[in-house]
Amino acid sequence: MMRRKLVAGNWKMHGLKADLGEVRAISAAMPDNVDAALCVPFTLIASAVEAAGDMLIGAQDVHEADKGAHTGCISAGMLIEAGAGLTLVGHSERRADQHETDAQVKAKAEAAHRAGLMVILCVGETLEERDSGRAEAVVTAQVAASLPAGAHGMWLALAYEPVWAIGTGRTPTEGDVAAMHGAIRAKLRELIGGEAESMRILYGGSVNAANASALLGCADVDGALVGGASLTADKFVPIIEAAAALG
Ligand code: PGA
Repeated sequence: MMRRKLVAGNWKMHGLKADLGEVRAISAAMPDNVDAALCVPFTLIASAVEAAGDMLIGAQDVHEADKGAHTGCISAGMLIEAGAGLTLVGHSERRADQHETDAQVKAKAEAAHRAGLMVILCVGETLEERDSGRAEAVVTAQVAASLPAGAHGMWLALAYEPVWAIGTGRTPTEGDVAAMHGAIRAKLRELIGGEAESMRILYGGSVNAANASALLGCADVDGALVGGASLTADKFVPIIEAAAALG
């Protein structure tokens, strides 16, 4: 099965209107054979959509309820109205900082899908979990517990992001990446049968222009989720181009 590669940027808590030129430059360089997206802060979604042309603009989180008394939170309907087409859920920074559980991540993904958003659902092990030989068990358990009802590659992608590789400049070996993505695919087959083949599994954690080709070329890697190196066109475009070269 040929899965079209998806390269998504995660701007985290970076990005003001002064940075919209980067959005424009990134979208201008978007090749035809790759899907590219930028997940920007909520406040930048509407203006990034205007700047992005055909490129998908996403959010970094969404609340699991459609509306209600949830001060400071944002609903999927609000994101759609702002022009977002996608949202991340379950990023490890939210699992750690906001104590989000697998059940909550699942509910968030389902709320996003109900409203018509595409979803990138993040999973990944800590260094302690990897060092103790539990990485695959932890990650496949996260997949099983956070996979939304009706999971389908048309609207859902997974992102494997080892927590210890995020923002550190460290990455797993290509062998470890392929092994983990294979384990995730096998778990998906168990959970959703043949639909597992259509679902993209992105790698994330210290992806940059120098390592993108090798990481994106690993078996069962269908794209990348990129933090620091997605903030500027000069760093992000070469990663998108590396994905395009692999087809
Ligand atoms: P990084 O972040 O590319 O800066 O390591 C990746 C992420 O957190 O999605």
